[in-house]
Amino acid sequence: MQNNIFSGLFVGQNLLTIQQVDSTNNYLKQLVSNSKPLIEGTVIMAVDQYAGRGQHQNGWFAEPGKNLTFSILLKPSFLPVSQQFDLVRAISLGVFDALHPLLGDGLTIKWPNDIYYGNRKLGGMLIENMIQGLQIKNSIAGIGININQEGFPENLPGAISVKQILQQDYDLKYLLSEICRHVEAYYLSLKADKISLVRNKYLSRLYRLNEEGEFKSKEGRFSGMIHRVTDSGLLVVKNNKGEDLEFSLKEIEFLH
Ligand code: BTN
Repeated sequence: MQNNIFSGLFVGQNLLTIQQVDSTNNYLKQLVSNSKPLIEGTVIMAVDQYAGRGQHQNGWFAEPGKNLTFSILLKPSFLPVSQQFDLVRAISLGVFDALHPLLGDGLTIKWPNDIYYGNRKLGGMLIENMIQGLQIKNSIAGIGININQEGFPENLPGAISVKQILQQDYDLKYLLSEICRHVEAYYLSLKADKISLVRNKYLSRLYRLNEEGEFKSKEGRFSGMIHRVTDSGLLVVKNNKGEDLEFSLKEIEFLH
């Protein structure tokens, strides 16, 4: 289905809105493996995603019709596998830039790819790459953003929606088109080899960058300060002995 509110070149030009699906990532993955080649930038959006998947085998809960739950197909064969974190950066920045005009400075990207407002989670991503040799053949970028939901279950005390912040409903298709436009712009920056631009911008948007904070690793609790992310995406935290510690995704927890 074509949709002309999408002003970019390819991301979102082929948009399929599905009434009910377990997970848009699952659906898109199946389309990619079952059908004839699907064009890059295809977006699958769900009105009711009833078994959304999150990071760390968690679920993703979204009240039907009130939130953005969608997946974008990208074909970043220009990007070596060793640079897959640059894709995480580009997509996170695209979502950030689309929401920033609405939400302003409370918005940040919590490493590696959560969208935060203040200390609460507004959205997240599940980016699943299909690797062939040393290249990323297909990438399914699943994005969930809480938009018009007015409350969250007790087991999600850290969640927040745009409506809870601005007391107003927002048009989901418009916000989707803005995210697609900005994701495409950062993706094209990567393709044009403007890697430093993407890396610097990502760092500047990070939640708790250069702020003293509490963390937990397998060694226990510690105070430190995020001051860098390595090219491959490890988080670098300086502890209070001045040592730089590097963490991958499951190795560190942020404490408030
Ligand atoms: C996280 O923060 O844990 C990641 C959440 C990702 C949720 C999105 S919603 C659309 C897409 N389909 C899924 O099943 N998950 C992602």
